[in-house]
Amino acid sequence: MFNYDSVQPGSRDDYLDDLCQRVEQGMDEGLLPVEVFRDDAVFRAEMERIFARTWVFVGHTSEIPNKGDYMLRRIGLDKVIVTRDDSDKINVMLNHCRHRGTEVCHQDKGNARQFKCPYHGWTYRNNGDWLAAPHMADAYGGKLDAKEWGLLRAPNVDTIHGFIFAALSEDVPPLREHLGDTVWMMDAIFGLHPDGMKVLAEPERFIVKADWKSGAENFSGDAYHVSTAHLSAALAEFIPGVNQVSTHASGYDFGNGNSFIGHALPKLIAPMFAFWGYPEEYRKQFDLSKLDAAQIEMLETVPPTIGTIFPNMSFLRFPQPAVPGEMPIPFTSIRMWHPVSPGVMELWNYELEYAFLPEEFHRKAYMAGQFGFGSGGIFEQDDTAVWEGIAKVGNSPWSRAKGMKLHYQQKRSGADPEWKGKGEFHPSIYGEYCQEKFWRRWLKDMAEGKKAKQGAKGGAA
Ligand code: FES
Ligand code: FE
Repeated sequence: MFNYDSVQPGSRDDYLDDLCQRVEQGMDEGLLPVEVFRDDAVFRAEMERIFARTWVFVGHTSEIPNKGDYMLRRIGLDKVIVTRDDSDKINVMLNHCRHRGTEVCHQDKGNARQFKCPYHGWTYRNNGDWLAAPHMADAYGGKLDAKEWGLLRAPNVDTIHGFIFAALSEDVPPLREHLGDTVWMMDAIFGLHPDGMKVLAEPERFIVKADWKSGAENFSGDAYHVSTAHLSAALAEFIPGVNQVSTHASGYDFGNGNSFIGHALPKLIAPMFAFWGYPEEYRKQFDLSKLDAAQIEMLETVPPTIGTIFPNMSFLRFPQPAVPGEMPIPFTSIRMWHPVSPGVMELWNYELEYAFLPEEFHRKAYMAGQFGFGSGGIFEQDDTAVWEGIAKVGNSPWSRAKGMKLHYQQKRSGADPEWKGKGEFHPSIYGEYCQEKFWRRWLKDMAEGKKAKQGAKGGAA
């Protein structure tokens, strides 16, 4: 594969500085240089400046409910072990042995008090502490300092509504502070019952030859594509009227690249689709006492249906039939956009549901979610197919020679001045407000990550 790194003038940092400047200037004009979607230097910088620094979503507590439970996850390019240790604490650790670096754990999920490295047998506790090595006296004369040789641990791990986030940088604000007004939205979506939500099955995983940002940015605010990319769902009468969805879509923007699309479901489909259409018998069991009036009004009129929490977590909840012809029921899908290489991601898709709901509802919600957004889902294939084209043109010699820029110039009608909730509410999704915020957050992390690296180098010198 031809690699443009070899022809970029100057150093990688100079090239990135220039590109970021062009992205910033482009955003002011509603234009985006296409190479951000596939470029070796951009990819490498994103791993260092975004994924190795900021809060990243790694899983849900219901996936590791018992002491000793663990699961393998990823933060950028790194494989990590997420454990619930013997003291019930959640840890996120680099899955590489401190002795010679091989992978310590090879099983996706399980329960273990210890992890024994398959190479020479160094053994770690499930909180990452170094525990033992074979032939201690002969090999090390008993002089191995356990405190020095534990697995690398993420210095910041926290949860919100069961969602586990980790940050590899020491220098981050606490999770809730970092999420800011997005917490208000998460409370309205995930905090409706004291028993919380639970993951219904293992996340489905599939490789997509598209950049991770194509998915994250799409979920942040692109309802415009639905009437074209997903038209087959209307033609097949699976979701009649899907081609009208964007005219009933709105944007909730909480800054920092975190934003959601709302759909006026009660108006678009029927009044019973307030609160996404949860059947009345279950809706009555929701505890709304912690929500404010704006949150309740939002769920009654324009419930959030899709969203992105920068960089790698996205959300979907809307009513859909479990099988064609049945009454639609809401499903909740969470996805992780895992960068793999420039222009390639691994997409992880989960279905979650409120834990208190009966098993039959869980089963149907799972089917509804998979039917639409599983790897063979009617919508998923539409999306991934179009995103792959973006990665291709990102590395196209012709597009680069021409300095091709992508169009973000929809007519803007502004935020609702009467909005009483947190963040901003844009009654029309047209305007690409949310996508612009996504790119501004990307720019911020790229700039701050560079500064932090320079600071570290300065410190070392
Ligand atoms: Fe793990 Fe040697 S690499 S014990
Ligand atoms: Fe889509």
